[in-house]
Amino acid sequence: MTSIDKIKSQLEQFAIDSLDTLEQFRLQFLTKKSELQELLSEIKNVAPEERKSFGQQVNELKQKAQQFYEEAKAKMECQAVQAGSDLDVTRPSTAVTLGSMHPISIMMNEVCDIFEKIGFSTVSGPDVEDDWHVFTALNFPEEHPARDMQDTFFIELHPDILLRTHTSSLQVRTMEKQQPPIRVICPGRVFRNEAITSRAHCIFHQVEGLYVAENVSFAEMKQTLLYFAQQMFGKDTKIRLRPSYFPFTEPSAEMDISCNICGGSGCALCKHTGWVEILGCGMVDPSVLENCGIDSKKYTGYAFGLGIERMTMLKYRTNDIRLYFENDVRFLRQFKAAGN
Ligand code: PHE
Repeated sequence: MTSIDKIKSQLEQFAIDSLDTLEQFRLQFLTKKSELQELLSEIKNVAPEERKSFGQQVNELKQKAQQFYEEAKAKMECQAVQAGSDLDVTRPSTAVTLGSMHPISIMMNEVCDIFEKIGFSTVSGPDVEDDWHVFTALNFPEEHPARDMQDTFFIELHPDILLRTHTSSLQVRTMEKQQPPIRVICPGRVFRNEAITSRAHCIFHQVEGLYVAENVSFAEMKQTLLYFAQQMFGKDTKIRLRPSYFPFTEPSAEMDISCNICGGSGCALCKHTGWVEILGCGMVDPSVLENCGIDSKKYTGYAFGLGIERMTMLKYRTNDIRLYFENDVRFLRQFKAAGN
């Protein structure tokens, strides 16, 4: 017991103020040959009635020495680092800046959310496609000039493989797998061989939609798209449909919304017409349904497709599509997803 008390008081009086004294402390209390260690091996020789209390005290002392050493060591190391530099380890650290979602992702999610609320489900699929899913099944016959509407990147070694020019390929994939009712939304990246300017890029994003069931009408499509436009751009937004042409829809239309900048009175964005085009749409051509194994006498459907960059530019009023691909954080930092 006297040895315990002796070591205890030595330990308590020991002042560690340098790496040298730290090492002395270790030699005196923590090595195998230290008195403390000897006491530990002594436990088994102590009379049984005293062994428990003796063991406890020695072990406590050992722990205390260990703890004392660790604390002093951390402190000494800190001081050593500081002595060699002007680093102040007590200074609060700089805040970590969190990234934010890319505006294109925010917009894709927003579009999908709006349609999911009315029963559409989201599907995805490959960027690298075959000719069938991008063109042939969608009524673009071989050599048909309509294929020129979308300048395609083909894979050099295999003329049948290409980068998809629209996500309508996913509509084909869905119809091939599933019988109506089908109500899907297809977001994704698409590729077209176009010169990069402030208004066009060779990579962009689309969300396309498809609804096939019995008695689906053009009027239903119009109402769904009006709902979408008002959810996205505000409840006063108006829409108008202009006749158009797509090989896979008949009749086809392009949809404009009332300009959300001037409210319809005319400005540079809407080229003083009061309207801006946001999407293409139409009733699915019966031969497309048949190509995908769906009975066109029983079912009808509508489809639509919109460009995400264009929508994002309209919504956030930016005038250069290239900003979305350059990843300049000063630009990206300005976007926040709803609820973020
Ligand atoms: N796929 C067309 C495009 O990329 C858009 C579209 C989809 C048009 C569905 C009509 C119906 O331009």
